[in-house]
Amino acid sequence: GKAGHNHYMHKEIHEQPYALRQAISGRIDELSGNASLNIELDDEFLRDIDEIQIVACGTSYHAGLYAKELIEPLIDVTVRVDIASEYEVYDGHDTQNTLVVAVTQSGETADTLSAIRRAKAPGMTTFAVTNTVGSTITREVDDSLFIKAGPEIGVAATKTFVSQVTALTLFATYLGRTRGTLSAGDGADILKNIRRLPNAVQSVLDAEPEIKCLAEQYVDSDAFFFIGRGLAQPVALESALKLKEISYTHAEGFAAGELKHGPLALVTENTPVLAFLNESASPKETFNNVKEVESRGAPVIGLTTKGNSGSFCKHTIEIPNLGRLEPLVANIATQLFAYHVANEMGRPIDKPRNLAKSVTVE
Ligand code: F6R
Repeated sequence: GKAGHNHYMHKEIHEQPYALRQAISGRIDELSGNASLNIELDDEFLRDIDEIQIVACGTSYHAGLYAKELIEPLIDVTVRVDIASEYEVYDGHDTQNTLVVAVTQSGETADTLSAIRRAKAPGMTTFAVTNTVGSTITREVDDSLFIKAGPEIGVAATKTFVSQVTALTLFATYLGRTRGTLSAGDGADILKNIRRLPNAVQSVLDAEPEIKCLAEQYVDSDAFFFIGRGLAQPVALESALKLKEISYTHAEGFAAGELKHGPLALVTENTPVLAFLNESASPKETFNNVKEVESRGAPVIGLTTKGNSGSFCKHTIEIPNLGRLEPLVANIATQLFAYHVANEMGRPIDKPRNLAKSVTVE
């Protein structure tokens, strides 16, 4: 059941600290600065990887974009992220040392399964990051990593997105340690932040009353825009997807620097802008983007780190500083914002029109 919540989505948003504890339980070894993941792919192959290709759809694609930003600096290898339905393998591609990673909550998404089959045809090594033990994808790939988020019933993915990124952070740490590109000390720092994640998420959940007030205040807006840089850019995309799918209101996410290259034309006093001012990616430059939209009259909700002045934003929501995981924590605030906008509009939040939890057609 919904355990006292009006919607599964609300229950699942609030389950996130627990889901994260499950995702990381027994998987952190701070002494060696490594993640214990029972990966079956052999170390020699992991050391020889010269390209990683991530394939996924929707929210899982956004988790893949986040993972790219996490993995690349740790292992010094190019990570390509493809929307699964767009994935192609080109003739002459080095298949020997490529790892193809499918990110899929259900493990049943037809587009993602089909991409994995395209990768397997010329012999590439495949890996799945999934929530579903025994799913089709797990039978097709060489090895899997489970995100252990527990069942997700609401059509909108919430806790599984956060658990996917967390599992991918553990995987990135494991790759970095195995390849020798990440020191034990730096690995331990990442793991320390992962350990702090459940409480950090809880602190944003505790701010729900203020976030609900903002949602109620802006429910009649023409559209909502989300802007972010670096790791917050995929979170901006994800936040917009969540808001549009459950509220049926126009929402878009942009790289903050792209605003002036077109989207700024849409900005008015009726288009609130939610800006991720995360410490991990030049918040000063994003401050300038905030000024650009404010001068067009748009109300700005700044998602700012504690102690980082967002005083020029009309509203601020405080996010605990958690290094490269901070934008992930900020995503909790935009999940709640999307939920309360949709709830205020009386939408059927757990079953938005035209959508299915698991998309088994291409
Ligand atoms: C959005 C949402 C979808 C899924 C997508 C992929 O809230 O849930 O965008 O993320 O259909 O599904 P999986 O992860 O099961 O492959």
